[in-house]
Amino acid sequence: MPEQNRDELKKELMAQVDKNNIPAHIAIIMDGNGRWAKKMGQSRIVGHHEGARRVKNIVRFCNDIGVKHLSLYAFSIENWLRPSMEVSALMRLFSTYIIKERDGLDAENVRFEFCGRRETMPPKVMEELDRIVNSLKKNTGLTLTVCINYGGRAEIVDATKKIIQEGYKPEDITEELISQHLYCSDILPDVDLMVRTSGEMRTSNFHIWRAAYSELYFSPVLWPEFDSVEMLKAIISYQKRERRFGMTSEQVQE
Ligand code: FPP
Repeated sequence: MPEQNRDELKKELMAQVDKNNIPAHIAIIMDGNGRWAKKMGQSRIVGHHEGARRVKNIVRFCNDIGVKHLSLYAFSIENWLRPSMEVSALMRLFSTYIIKERDGLDAENVRFEFCGRRETMPPKVMEELDRIVNSLKKNTGLTLTVCINYGGRAEIVDATKKIIQEGYKPEDITEELISQHLYCSDILPDVDLMVRTSGEMRTSNFHIWRAAYSELYFSPVLWPEFDSVEMLKAIISYQKRERRFGMTSEQVQE
């Protein structure tokens, strides 16, 4: 679609958005970098770099529209099984990208967080990420949480271990206690809207505890081509749904 029509479409969609019902936490499974690269006759690594370029636009757009939390599934625990060249290129990309974008994030009042299993992260990458987390802690706009070395089941396993180590008894275990022991528990709320790009319809172990009641949106667009128009479509779809959290429609409307 020509750029001008895309701008017009964005305006039309913006007019449909209810500014009072913006999902507070959007989680995105950024899928399709490899297929985009193949389509372009490029290597998978070029696809990931192009995917990283998308991150900035989506963060800026979500911040502008009033989203409070954006969490991005950048590397799952299972992704260590990929070819070692791809894994090391991705790890390098995470730290270089965040270092490069740090000042831009700061200028836009964005906070940054890491969510995942810290212990098995490459120490150098973890060091860089921690440094950026600390330097953007004072910001009050959108919190960008990058999920690296993350798995929803692993997160629950790690939370359970912490609970046992802290000496809790079976009768102390509640949903609230488990929530308090998840990664980034002091920062990250439940997911309102989970988006997956590239046409795949799975949630692949992402935020399984926090997404228990989230609305799901599957976009056919590959992540490197996912823009603010596609994000708006997801938000509008979310706003048309009735979130019942196990109640009846009548109860929700009361
Ligand atoms: C899935 O696509 C994508 C990933 C495993 C990596 C996601 C990483 C980025 C978008 C890069 C940078 C991110 C940040 C936060 C700096 P795939 O490779 O599985 O695609 P395919 O299914 O088409 O092969």
